[in-house]
Amino acid sequence: MKISRCTNSRIQTTDFKNLKFGTVFSDHMLICRYEYGKWGEVEIRPYGPIEMNPGTQILHYGQAVFEGMKAFKNDKDEVLVFRKEENFKRLNKSAIRLSIPEIPRDVFMNGLNNLLSLDSQWCSKEEGYSLYIRPFIFASGECIKASSSEEFTFIIITSPTTKYYPGEINVVIEEHYTRAARGGVGSVKAAGNYAASFYPTKQANAKGFQQVIWTDAEHHKFIEESGTMNIWFRIGDKLITPSLSDSILGGITRDSVITLAKDNGIVVEERRILVSEIIQSYNNGNLKESFGTGTAVAVTPINSITFKEERITIPSQKDSFAIMLKKQLQGIQKGKIDDKYNWNSLVS
Ligand code: COI
Repeated sequence: MKISRCTNSRIQTTDFKNLKFGTVFSDHMLICRYEYGKWGEVEIRPYGPIEMNPGTQILHYGQAVFEGMKAFKNDKDEVLVFRKEENFKRLNKSAIRLSIPEIPRDVFMNGLNNLLSLDSQWCSKEEGYSLYIRPFIFASGECIKASSSEEFTFIIITSPTTKYYPGEINVVIEEHYTRAARGGVGSVKAAGNYAASFYPTKQANAKGFQQVIWTDAEHHKFIEESGTMNIWFRIGDKLITPSLSDSILGGITRDSVITLAKDNGIVVEERRILVSEIIQSYNNGNLKESFGTGTAVAVTPINSITFKEERITIPSQKDSFAIMLKKQLQGIQKGKIDDKYNWNSLVS
């Protein structure tokens, strides 16, 4: 591995009190290229521009996948990476679906460890802070024929972060646009999934909603995800979340919350959820909570759901499952609660 350190760290001039999600980057990045049928040497170098020609394939056909993961600093100043094995597996699952060569384990794991070790100061120990890690792979061959590239670039950048959504989350059920269809790429982190969501999301934003609730492509009757999050409902004292399919992303936070909830004795149902069931549960007084989960947002309560013209305001609960599960998840991530599931790994 080739490591070149930056000569002038930007950390002293970074305003950690006013971090806007995804806008500040740590000093270094990892880069590795795939050429002539194999991944080459890993290089860690100062964060900075990458050169590409206008004919580079990613710019034309969007052949790219990414991950979102987080590292936290505990009281002993150690950096803990949360469930990196799961992100590694999901990155390669996404790569396969997008016809991108898989990243070798040592490139990902050793590269990530070295990068985080070099930029460990960017991971703040303060409560509520973490280091968001963004690994991504894109088609870097120069060719505008509509076919899979033969050259790819793998990069990891990191970004100090606090809250993703600063305020309330009011969502609207989307009945026209679709995030993902059966047989498509909705269950993987293809860059284009997000690009296609921006227009409908902007329209929802203009009406005062932070996000949309995506429904199934065929009938718009079943709930799938909310914005970039997996979605959950507490009906009575059960937690319900849509079962995974090829149009729903298998969130690592989703999986963690299922484990934590079950361990707390909460019944968790993973199944198809009709929009009408949620409306009915609200009308019967059984809809107690709704929340989203994701790496960037952790566990985020949803304040209201609008369906057609009707707005459902979700009551706040004294014994909120969302708040309890968020505390437990973040306690484990920060090394404050026993990591009995072995989710954390120490950066060395
Ligand atoms: C994440 O939660 O890491 C995501 O992928 C959301 C992201 C698009 C910011």
